[in-house]
Amino acid sequence: MSQAATLRRPGAENSFAMEVSSGLGLEQKAISSTWLYDQRGSELFEEITELAEYYPTRSELALFRDHLPAFGAAFGRHASVIEIGAGSSRKTRLLLQALRSPYAYFPIDISADFLFEAVGRLQEEFPQVRCTPVVADFTDAAALAAVARRLSTVGPALGFFPGSTLGNFEPHAAQRLLGQLAHALGDKGALVIGIDSTADPDVLLPAYDDARGVTAAFNLNLLARINRELGGTFRLDTFAHEARFDAMHSRIEMHLVSRIAQRVLVLGKTYFFQAGETIHTENSHKFRRTHFLEMARAAGWISQEVWSHHTSGFEVHVLGRGAAIPKVLSQGD
Ligand code: AVI
Repeated sequence: MSQAATLRRPGAENSFAMEVSSGLGLEQKAISSTWLYDQRGSELFEEITELAEYYPTRSELALFRDHLPAFGAAFGRHASVIEIGAGSSRKTRLLLQALRSPYAYFPIDISADFLFEAVGRLQEEFPQVRCTPVVADFTDAAALAAVARRLSTVGPALGFFPGSTLGNFEPHAAQRLLGQLAHALGDKGALVIGIDSTADPDVLLPAYDDARGVTAAFNLNLLARINRELGGTFRLDTFAHEARFDAMHSRIEMHLVSRIAQRVLVLGKTYFFQAGETIHTENSHKFRRTHFLEMARAAGWISQEVWSHHTSGFEVHVLGRGAAIPKVLSQGD
């Protein structure tokens, strides 16, 4: 991997400032979960994935270990892989090991330092794969189009979107993103995507509010980031992390609750908080299978396979653009 090979989209810093100032001005204060992932936030998220309470990573890794080898053996040689959000190298490693002579790897992530570290490690392990990190917001259609233009025609294009990150989008935005991916990956493209459909609050609430407080630190880091990058005056000890389950929308919400009435300065502007008032910082939708498949179909995808975890509600879907009959598999089948 070389820095010269890196694709970088400008303007991310300005978007952060704009989103924070507009989000803090809303009646229900809200900041998009995209901004949780600076270097520290990405490290804390990696820690979350190791927690006993956080079942999605464990479940997905088990599904990958069981099913990726057969998938990779059947998938075309010399694939170009686009990873949507370069999170865990553990998952990417399993995919690249399973594929036959993978040709290229394009991870797209907004957190530059974290991306370079992860890709540097993978490049050492897979020297024959042409690795090109792309520093961009993966919902940016122009960034996806830029990667699509660089896809090799030597082999098939494969999108890799693990971690159930699609659940961090509102359903309409999730469907739009699935459509953008279908467009970028082309008529012969395929997508391997993790989706969480867990609906039990007794499982969900501890997963998003763990005993060691790692998720709380991950959420509060957003305020530290605003202080550091936007001259904010948030006092972190006056805010608390809260996870809420919203059954109607089938989602877990993260909030930062102001413990006291206070005023905070950001970019020279004052924002008022009442005691108990919150900043809504994340939605994590738990899409039922039928709902996800409806969105995928409407976005131009056809279900090829579903790998379903035997205890949690976690699933991995393999989507393609050509007709096929969905095959439902469970771990251990
Ligand atoms: C990245 N994303 C899929 C995680 C989730 O489960 O929604 C982010 C996260 N938030 C709190 N814990 C983990």
